[in-house]
Amino acid sequence: MKTRGISEIQGMEQVSKIASKGDLPPRPEGGWFPVDLRCIDPEHFTPCDLYRKTKQNGFVLFAQKNLSIDRPTRDRLMANDMYYLYIRDEDSPVYFDFLKNTLIEIVRDPNTTSKKKAEAVHASCQEILRWTFEEPRAPFVRKAQEAILPTVSLIMNDDSATKHLIRLTAYDHSTYTHCTNVGIYGVALAKIFFGTGSMKKMESLGPGFFLHDLGKCRIPLEILNKPGALTPDERQIVNRHPDDGRIMLAESGLLTDEAKIITGQHHERDDGNGYPLGLKETDIHPYARICRLADVYEALTADRSYHTRHSTFDAFKIMHTQFTSDLDRKLFELFIQLFSA
Ligand SMILES: [Fe+2]
Repeated sequence: MKTRGISEIQGMEQVSKIASKGDLPPRPEGGWFPVDLRCIDPEHFTPCDLYRKTKQNGFVLFAQKNLSIDRPTRDRLMANDMYYLYIRDEDSPVYFDFLKNTLIEIVRDPNTTSKKKAEAVHASCQEILRWTFEEPRAPFVRKAQEAILPTVSLIMNDDSATKHLIRLTAYDHSTYTHCTNVGIYGVALAKIFFGTGSMKKMESLGPGFFLHDLGKCRIPLEILNKPGALTPDERQIVNRHPDDGRIMLAESGLLTDEAKIITGQHHERDDGNGYPLGLKETDIHPYARICRLADVYEALTADRSYHTRHSTFDAFKIMHTQFTSDLDRKLFELFIQLFSA
């Protein structure tokens, strides 16, 4: 089987796919939706009935709405590799709101440490992006944007939490971490590039970084997860995702100028070999250059079906030597600073 080299990685067309601890189970037939137990804080009441999957693939009520799952029970489930419970599809909107509100509460809580905030934000962001990609309807995309804003605020205002977030990106490579990690890198790099006084701008930029690949949910899974080289027709389908993402954000009423630039230009390259327009150097907006840099680094350091992950050091070496005609050197130097102790 032919595997992909660096030039293929530069396409960045795949979502990270690895059977890691607690990886998302397949969505079962019959109107059920898996929810990540790590995002259910034991101190909160459950927003809807939660079900457990039996060995016979049936579902039994595990926790009723408005009750809480105590910490020992939650820890015991996770110790037995049970990271997901299930809700009924019709409860999706109320559960999504619960995730969003819990995230906002944690970020604002003065008694929660930066480390705990970072862990909660990283887990919740992945869960929220998973929902958005699986249910890319306008109301969910709008809710995702609301949920991303407290994450942007955390990165802008809490350097210690930002460090913890950057560390967390190195350990978890489940399916939706790609978007979460690119979002975190993008906001953190923009914070250094534009300065901390740019909170207003970051509220528009942040959702663009986290949702830059939204158009991928229109790519058939067999193409998105294909381990071998893509055919020219498949490549054409993949290359539509920047435009598709832009259209989906427009349909959701969320297409700010910043999001339009990020989604539309994040695969353009300085040497003109990018897509969809083949823009060159200064024609590519700095917002898109930041996203591209974050995207390349994330792709190199994540386990993919077509290559194993590189260490941070090796990824920087590859970016320095093999992406010379592609990436913004000044931004690259600033990006390295994010990983200093
Ligand atoms: Fe992309």
